[in-house]
Amino acid sequence: MTEAKNILEVRNLSIHFGSGDDLLKAVDDISFTIGHGETVAVVGESGSGKSISALALTKLAPRAAKYAGGEIIFGGQNMLSLSDPELRKIRGSQISYIFQEPMVSFNPVFTIGWQIEEALKLHRKGIDRKKEVNRLLDLVHLPVRLAPSYPHQMSGGQLQRCMIAMALACSPELLVADEPTTALDVTVQREILNLLAELSEKVGLSVLMITHNFGIVGDLADRVYVMQKGKVVEEGSTEQILYKPQHEYTKQLMAAVPRLHPAKD
Ligand SMILES: Nc1ncnc2c1ncn2[C@@H]1O[C@H](COP(=O)(O)OP(=O)(O)O)[C@@H](O)[C@H]1O
Ligand SMILES: [Mg+2]
Repeated sequence: MTEAKNILEVRNLSIHFGSGDDLLKAVDDISFTIGHGETVAVVGESGSGKSISALALTKLAPRAAKYAGGEIIFGGQNMLSLSDPELRKIRGSQISYIFQEPMVSFNPVFTIGWQIEEALKLHRKGIDRKKEVNRLLDLVHLPVRLAPSYPHQMSGGQLQRCMIAMALACSPELLVADEPTTALDVTVQREILNLLAELSEKVGLSVLMITHNFGIVGDLADRVYVMQKGKVVEEGSTEQILYKPQHEYTKQLMAAVPRLHPAKD
């Protein structure tokens, strides 16, 4: 049996809120793929359906959301037809998420070392957890001596690194990063993005990077999907999208955001 080329294939996915006059097609017949070890960016303005699409991958869209059509193929199965226990097994262990606000992902009363250990307890039995916590902190370039720190004792950038360490605790195959650097200042953003790029190389991780900011796409993504009002309006290699955007909306998005690196040509 040959291994599938893509780790994830989303086919004609639609997600609706409300009905009748109040029907909102938050995600409207979108398709995208992520290859093994590939970093794919989904870019679009606020409200275009990025987060709902990302959450839908493990059927985590809000309760009010209706999966109105399509399939999400991961590991040879359609995620949308799996049971809750089956989905729970995949969440966090094969697909994990990092979000914009690292603070909300940590419990303020426990040390970050303890919390990473808990993630290990949940997903990986029978390993030397102390040693693994240190390995993970090292992987995200945090000094091991920070393990006994509480979340409020860390900077935003350090916490985001911890969240990445926690997301990697179960060695997932796919990391979904939903606006992971939006809350951080520009220098720290760059450091976190470099870390994600490094990890995807080193660990062979596939990354789905969600952002409204075209500035961060260039250095990180292999391919880009542009979303507007629930639809994918343009897709292509990063180079193609950055230097030869076809869709008017893509051009607007790019013009609106100052890039971290000016265009090379
Ligand atoms: N729980 C909800 N109930 C109703 N509408 C929602 C809910 N969550 C999100 N939406 C709507 O779905 C659309 C897509 O949202 P979202 O995926 O969060 O956008 P993005 O991440 O691109 O900013 C938006 O119009 C948003 O208002
Ligand atoms: Mg969002």
